[in-house]
Amino acid sequence: MRSLLLSLLCAGSALAAPQRVVSLGGDLTEIAFALGRGGAIVAVDLTSVYPAEAQKLPRVGYVRALSAEGILAMKPDLILASGDAGPPEVLRQLERAGVPVVTLPKDHTLAGITAKIRAVAGALDAKSAGEKLAGAFDADCRTVEAASHAGRPLAAVFVMARGDGALSAAGSGTAADAMLAAAGLRNVFAGTEGYKPVSAEMLLDLAPAVLVTGTRTVQASGGLDRLKQNPALSLTPAVKADRVLVFDDMYLLGLGPRAARAARELAIAARR
Ligand code: HEM
Repeated sequence: MRSLLLSLLCAGSALAAPQRVVSLGGDLTEIAFALGRGGAIVAVDLTSVYPAEAQKLPRVGYVRALSAEGILAMKPDLILASGDAGPPEVLRQLERAGVPVVTLPKDHTLAGITAKIRAVAGALDAKSAGEKLAGAFDADCRTVEAASHAGRPLAAVFVMARGDGALSAAGSGTAADAMLAAAGLRNVFAGTEGYKPVSAEMLLDLAPAVLVTGTRTVQASGGLDRLKQNPALSLTPAVKADRVLVFDDMYLLGLGPRAARAARELAIAARR
């Protein structure tokens, strides 16, 4: 009787576990794989670059500029949508199509990642793996503190190149702002909201001692030397002292399970 009940329960949970998941957000894809549920993912967005297996899956567009047709064509039984997923009309279209959509709140903090791990684990029927991953992430978070509180907070800026090569700096409400804060760095653009174009005057005035950027920006700028020669950056204390730190974009800004390690690495590199 007990074994019958057990097998019924197991069958029940196997049925409950989604089998065709479309993951819209590199953080969610990374969590799904870390939970051992990567096999249930049938398509991902363009920011899903980690782990390497995720890059072999079909792509349904960029997370901030999705369209419903390509996603629905994958016949998902669950859509995981990060807080960055949009535009909102597309998410509404997906819901109207009758596919369950789990939308994670936009939360640009390290603390929010633990809740995100648990939410994804719940949606993928992987609760105990979720508790393990959340515990490991919290343990990583505790190692950030020691690295980030050494000395005075350094003034820093995160820059990103837009398609046309023009540079923008990360203000508040961005992943970059959260990572600078977690690393104990003072974001000189914290007074602005989102990404805003930068000029030489602004940066000279704000005088960041550390400049942080991503590999995509370095590529888009034609290499690190060309980026440093950009007139908006070349006279900053950071570039003059060669304190320019380049990170893989999704490692630093993905706000997934690796974020605490990335924050620690940033904290240490900035103080070297
Ligand atoms: C397809 C072309 C792309 C366009 C047009 C684009 C455009 C943008 C824009 C406009 C933002 C700023 C959003 C804001 O103001 O808050 C942004 C942020 C971001 N993009 Fe893209 N992007 C593209 C591709 C990618 C890819 C392929 C990746 C990763 C592999 C990526 C990673 C990111 C990340 C991590 C942020 C968030 C930064 C933060 O919050 O600090 N982007 N992108």
